[in-house]
Amino acid sequence: MKILGIETSCDETSAAVVEETGDPEKPWAIRSNVIASQVPIHREWGGVVPELASRQHIRDICGVVERALEEGQTSWGDLGAVAVTQGPGLVGSLLVGVAFAKAAAAASGLPLVAVHHLAGHIESLVLQNGEMPLPAVVLVVSGGHTSLYLVEQPGEYRLLSRTRDDAAGEAYDKVAKLLGLGYPGGPVIDRLAASGNDRAIQLPTMRLTHADRNAPELKGDLDFSFSGLKTAVLRHVRARDALSEREIADICATFQRIVVTSLIDRVFDAARRYHAKSVGIAGGVSANSRLRAELQERGLRREIPTFLPSLQLSTDNAAMIAAAGLRKFRAGDVASLDLNADAALPLA
Ligand code: KG4
Ligand code: ZN
Repeated sequence: MKILGIETSCDETSAAVVEETGDPEKPWAIRSNVIASQVPIHREWGGVVPELASRQHIRDICGVVERALEEGQTSWGDLGAVAVTQGPGLVGSLLVGVAFAKAAAAASGLPLVAVHHLAGHIESLVLQNGEMPLPAVVLVVSGGHTSLYLVEQPGEYRLLSRTRDDAAGEAYDKVAKLLGLGYPGGPVIDRLAASGNDRAIQLPTMRLTHADRNAPELKGDLDFSFSGLKTAVLRHVRARDALSEREIADICATFQRIVVTSLIDRVFDAARRYHAKSVGIAGGVSANSRLRAELQERGLRREIPTFLPSLQLSTDNAAMIAAAGLRKFRAGDVASLDLNADAALPLA
C-alpha cells in the first residue's frame, strides 16, 4: 500500500509518497519526498514568523502535493490513505495541512490518519534504517523540542524527559543570532565549530551527580536545560567590544561541545536505566556533525546499535509523517473528517 503524507507544522511545506515493502525488517520505502522550505522568507526576520508561514503554506501546498504524486509516479487511485501532521506546531501552519488532507481524503474517498509530529521524527529512524531493536531510547531534538522517549512496542512512545526551558535547536538559533550569524543557527554554528577550540572559553555545563546517574528510578535528572548556557554565551559576548573570527569559532565549538555532551549523556544514561537494545536521535539537530559522530562513537563503545536519519530526513519532512501514518493505519487508528489541528497535541 502507498500513503500520501503531508507536513506543515512549522516552516516547511512537505508532501511525500511512502510505500510498504512487505519486509518486516525494513517496512517502508520512500517514493517521493518534496519539501518547499520557507527559510529564505523567515531569515529576514531572524526566526519563523507564524503569519508569514501559514500564508506561504497556502501558496505552496497544492503544487507540493502534485509534485510528490508525480515524482512518486502515483495517482490518487493508487493511494490507500492520507496522513497529516495534526500537531504540535504553529496552529495557523498546521491548519493548512489538516484542511488540505481532509479535503483530499473526502474527495478521493481515502481514509485519513492523524500523525503526531514527534512520532514522525521517531519513525524517520525506522524509515531510514529499518525496525529498531526494542526497547529503544530515542531523543527527538529540534527547534521546538528536546524530548527523550522510550519505545517498548512499535508505535508506543513513552516520554522519559524533556527540556525545562529552551529546545536545543532554539538555543543554537538564539546563540547564532547573538553572534550575528543569521538564521537558522544550527548549520552555521556546526560549520564554524569545526575550526574552533572547544575548550577555549569557560561556559557552564549541565552535570549529573554520581547518585543521579545510578538512581534506579527517574528523578527528573534526565531533563534538559539550555537557557543558562545561552545566557552565559550572551554575558561572554557582552563583556567584549568586538569578537574576532577566531573567538566566534571558539564560542561555537565550546557551546556545541556542551550541548552535544548533555544530549548524548542523557541518551546513554536512559539506555542503561531502561536496558535499551538500541538508541536513536532524530529531529533537526540530529543533522549536527558532532552529535552524529559522538552518538556512533559512544554506541560502539557501549556495544549498542545507534540509529540516525539521513540529513534530508532529520529536518521536517512529510516522508516521516507518511511512515508514522502507515504504522497508525495498520494499527487501525483512522481519524474522522472533523479532525482539528492541535498546536499542543500530546504524544501518547
Ligand atoms: O526538526 P526541525 O526541522 O524543525 C522543528 O521541528 O523545529 O529542526 C530545526 C532546528 C533548527 O533549530 C536548526 O537550527 C536545527 O534544527 N539544526 C541544527 C543543525 N541543522 C539544523 N542544529 C545543530 N546542528 C545542525 N547541523
Ligand atoms: Zn520537527
